[in-house]
Amino acid sequence: MTDTNILVFAATGNVGRHIVTLLREAGHAVRAVTRDPGAARLPAGVEVVPGDLADPATLHACLAGIDAVFLLWPLHSGEHLPAVLDLIAARARRVVFLGTGGVPDLPFEEQDKLVHGCGIESTVLRPSTFAVNTLWWADQIRAGDVVRGAYGALPMSLIHEADMAAVAARALTGPGHDGATHTLTGPEVLTQAEQVRVIGEVLGRPLRWEELTREQARRRLLNDETFPDSFVDVLLDGYAAMLAGPPPVLTSTVQDVTGAPPRSLRRWAADHADDFR
Ligand SMILES: NC(=O)c1ccc[n+]([C@@H]2O[C@H](COP(=O)([O-])OP(=O)(O)OC[C@H]3O[C@@H](n4cnc5c(N)ncnc54)[C@H](OP(=O)(O)O)[C@@H]3O)[C@@H](O)[C@H]2O)c1
Repeated sequence: MTDTNILVFAATGNVGRHIVTLLREAGHAVRAVTRDPGAARLPAGVEVVPGDLADPATLHACLAGIDAVFLLWPLHSGEHLPAVLDLIAARARRVVFLGTGGVPDLPFEEQDKLVHGCGIESTVLRPSTFAVNTLWWADQIRAGDVVRGAYGALPMSLIHEADMAAVAARALTGPGHDGATHTLTGPEVLTQAEQVRVIGEVLGRPLRWEELTREQARRRLLNDETFPDSFVDVLLDGYAAMLAGPPPVLTSTVQDVTGAPPRSLRRWAADHADDFR
């Protein structure tokens, strides 16, 4: 697909902003969906349109004249995903979906089935934990050298949002991704305690992890006004399940699809150093 008309959902988010930039640089026409176009701050030349995934009836106009769609699911219920996919399949030729573990009523396998069964070319990206989640520690890092949380020994492979976007842009515009579910990881496995140390090294600070019980961590997150209450147990349950399961397995998919190795946490922290200051 060259010179394609591409619709990007969640275009104002961590991943979506990078996708929009990559697609514009490659010369594609980009339409970005947001609930608040006035606050979107997207690059010149991007058509910004209103739409709400929680209200699929608002999406008809967004999809007119569109060839390919990037979709992620920011809601904590999958109720409207089938209706949104039906709307997309009625108008576009291709959809690229970023899978999520944050929808308790719609596990990964169900997401795959819905997306690959929607009747048009489809690709699912199944990312490991976002490196950007470490910004949940930013308040603590600004306040001192200690990060307190539960499951400090939990190993994860953190992925840079720019790497997810690079794979998504290829899948939206190039051949060879129809029917694929791409598992995406970063280049390394680090425990949460090790992640804190690496961020400290990049910031030039002796940061260290201090372990809390799950209940202490739960109360801490519930008191954090910037963290959604509805996501606290989903997150901690997810961490407990990850700790009980097999350790993360790294994939070469970012390199295979984009030709460049995935970015390290060190690189991500350097890109985001100002967000911790
Ligand atoms: N964090 C992880 O470790 C992880 C792992 C796997 C998958 N994910 C997936 O990645 C998503 C987050 O991606 P991100 O970090 O790029 O986004 P983000 O920075 O958290 O921003 C959320 C985006 O979703 C949009 N949005 C929220 N509610 C919406 C609605 N009702 N209708 C339309 N758009 C809506 C927002 O757009 P406006 O506010 O402009 O409307 C914004 O662009 C998660 O929701 C999950 O699906 C996350």
